[in-house]
Amino acid sequence: MSLPITDTFGRKHTYLRISLTDKCNLRCTYCMPQEDMQFMPSKWLMQADEIQALAEIFVEMGVEKIRLTGGEPLVRKDVGQIVSGLGKLSASLTLTTNAVFIDQFIGDLKEAGVGSLNVSLDTLKEERFKNITKRDHFTKTLDNIQLLLAENFVVKLNMVVMRGVNDDEVNDFVRLTVDQPNLHVRFIEFMPFNGNQWDMSKIVSYADLISDINTEFDFQKLSGELQDTAQRFQVTGGAGTFGIIGTVTHPFCAGCNRIRLTADGKLKNCLFDTSEMDLLTPLRQGQDVRDLIYSHFHKKHFAHGGHVDFSEKQAKSEYETNRKMIAIGG
Ligand code: GTP
Ligand code: 5AD
Ligand code: SF4
Repeated sequence: MSLPITDTFGRKHTYLRISLTDKCNLRCTYCMPQEDMQFMPSKWLMQADEIQALAEIFVEMGVEKIRLTGGEPLVRKDVGQIVSGLGKLSASLTLTTNAVFIDQFIGDLKEAGVGSLNVSLDTLKEERFKNITKRDHFTKTLDNIQLLLAENFVVKLNMVVMRGVNDDEVNDFVRLTVDQPNLHVRFIEFMPFNGNQWDMSKIVSYADLISDINTEFDFQKLSGELQDTAQRFQVTGGAGTFGIIGTVTHPFCAGCNRIRLTADGKLKNCLFDTSEMDLLTPLRQGQDVRDLIYSHFHKKHFAHGGHVDFSEKQAKSEYETNRKMIAIGG
């Protein structure tokens, strides 16, 4: 076993997020703002065997949890093969998906030991779904969420809350958790990325969400771990939970355990750090990439950009140089 991936703040990195593609079958405005996106040429992408090789190295370096992201991970043709290979590693495996294609993968996911999935869903209204995603997959998405629950998967719904867009639906989402033990909703503060028209006034903050939910529900705060993205709550007598991912007003950098690998094989030590370390080229050249990984995490900052001083001016200039969310994977 190699040494764990720690940084100079003593944070141990045990959670690997692998982006499989920058393509997606939806066009959510906050993530992939342009209709005419230039996607990565396929020769830039990590191949299934390269993903497996890198994941094996990370697991050997102490990674305990792997999450597949995108874009939309299920648009990749060889995703079944990738899931099956990663399922054999001694790390838990999970995905963040929009669920449109999930019915085609129930068997593969179960066989690979996936028990929990995070699904992006920002509205319970059909017309609004079309406005946010620019696509007409509302019914399919809802049916597939029901299917996942019927198949006993734990489902976490991710709702990016945007003022004037979907903030009137927060309590409708909370209500979904009351009777469903396997359903957990997470409200996410809208984050700035290249081209996504972010500004501070569009954020619905942690504090605003709490007071909004308070108008309709009694709820308790649940305990959690320092590395958790979400602060979790439960409606009194409820079965599932809801959480708030306070990316902007309640950052969770102090416990950060996350490692990101982009679809083109670049290592990111923070969602907002634009300095990337290419792992794919050295892997293809037969080099051992462990020292590159250690050195990149040794340079990790405690926090980035907005997490320290979230002034709008600073945020806009810093985040325009970062990748679009679709090319990072969240
Ligand atoms: P669980 O493991 O189920 O708790 O999921 P997760 O919250 O780690 O992952 P998911 O892909 O569901 O992401 C939910 C939201 O958290 C997305 O908006 C991500 O961009 C955001 N997120 C995840 N990790 C980080 C992080 O390190 N920093 C920030 N700022 N946001 C993050
Ligand atoms: N701010 C916050 N969350 C975002 N996501 C995508 N773009 C943003 C953004 N700008 C979320 C998606 C998905 C997760 C991986 O990241 O809703 O569930
Ligand atoms: Fe696609 Fe997810 Fe981005 Fe929406 S948030 S465009 S579903 S990758």
